[in-house]
This record gives sequence, C-alpha cells and structure tokens, in this order.
Amino acid sequence: MRKLAAGNWKMNGTSADLAEASALKAAHPAPGVDILLCPPATLLSRLSDSVGATIATGGQDCHAAASGAHTGDISAPMLADAGASHVILGHSERRTDHAETDADVHAKTQAALAAGLTALVCVGETQAQREAGKTLDVVGRQLAGSVPDSATAATLVIAYEPVWAIGSGRVPTLEQIAEVHDFIRGELTARFGADARAMRLLYGGSVKPANAAEIFAISNVDGALVGGASLKARDFSAIVTALENAAPD
Ligand code: PGA
Repeated sequence: MRKLAAGNWKMNGTSADLAEASALKAAHPAPGVDILLCPPATLLSRLSDSVGATIATGGQDCHAAASGAHTGDISAPMLADAGASHVILGHSERRTDHAETDADVHAKTQAALAAGLTALVCVGETQAQREAGKTLDVVGRQLAGSVPDSATAATLVIAYEPVWAIGSGRVPTLEQIAEVHDFIRGELTARFGADARAMRLLYGGSVKPANAAEIFAISNVDGALVGGASLKARDFSAIVTALENAAPD
C-alpha cells in the first residue's frame, strides 16, 4: 500500500498560493508516497494543470447529484472535469457548518465513486463524546452510515480526525490514535474482508512537522490529512518526508 499525505487547504488560498504547490512539487519530483492537495474549488483546475502529474488534486466536498438546480454547489463530475482524482467528504467542518449527516455523506460518497473519484471520508468524535467514553461508538456509527458497500481500497480512504484536535494544536496520545485506527481497520475488515487491509487510514488533526514522525510510526496509520500545515510548502514537505521515512506497517 502506498501511503498518502493529503493537504486540505479549506477556505484558504488565492492565485498567489499556487506557488506553494509548485514549490512542493519541486521538493518532491519523485515522491515515495502519494501526495494529494485539496485546494478551494476556485484553484482546483489551475492547480491540477500545474502540479497534476506528481501531485494528485481533490475537492473538499461535492453534491450528491451530478447536476441540477443547486446554486453554489459543485458536483463530483465537475470536480473530475477540473482535474480532481479525490474528494474529501464528511469533514467535521461540513458536518457542523452545513449539518451534514452520515446519510448525506453516504450519498455524496456514492456520487464521488460514480464519477470515478476516490472518496476521502472523515470520521471523528467531539471532545464531549470522548470524555463520555463514546469515541468508538461514534466512529463506528459514522463509518457504518457514511461508507457505501461499493467502496474498495482503490476508491476509499478514511481519515480519523478527532474534532477537538482539528486546528487546535491538541493531538491525541499515540495510544489513543492507535486504538481508533485499529478499531477502524477491524470495522472495515468485518465489512469488506481482505480488501480492507489495503484501505488507507489517515490521521488528521494538528499534524505538524514536529509530530508527524511519531504519528506515522503507529501501525494502521497510513498517512495524514493535514490542514494548517499543508498551506506552506516547507511545512507540508517536511510532513511528506516524514511519511516517506516511516517504516512500512
Ligand atoms: P489541521 O486540520 O491540520 O489544521 O488541524 C486538519 C483537517 O481539518 O483536516
């Protein structure tokens, strides 16, 4: 399995930031891991054109329908047409800001797969859910509800992102990450059998150059979904290098 370093630019980035993607490409002309950048939709086409051969690109959300009267929304075939090979779905910011349910994420994931995109489905508990001892219940429910049966190792990536770790500088202990990643692997194996071994499980939430190596040493962590530290080529490049240097599982 090739590991995956995914960057989520969120609602950041204008034309001037295309240079960060070019610098990242220049730093990793033949990367030993897969690199994915998910810029805002306004930059997707240009970024795909400029770094596409080395760095995969993705959207940050898509609509469940392929086209229609949905002002402001973007469909999976549109992302593919703009050069995307991936799309992030069910990010906690979408689940919170846009009240997305597991059923919504399930429908969007089906739309992504139908358009030939790989879906990067996000799951993760809130601080209150963790304190109540409900982390595995919540993650299990999100997985069951968000991931369609048609997913395969080639078309599905899971990102475990504790909501309280996103953008906060707070990271779970290595044991806490290991526990949830082992649990996710088990749930996927129960559902998808041997194919689940090749499904990539990313950790996300305040991954930085300083903590990347120890996170990547955890078994069943096959990469990272990186927000803030993906905006600058220098930081993201250090994370890519840490992933390249991580021992295979
Ligand atoms: P962060 O964001 O790395 O800034 O914590 C991660 C994410 O939301 O994907």
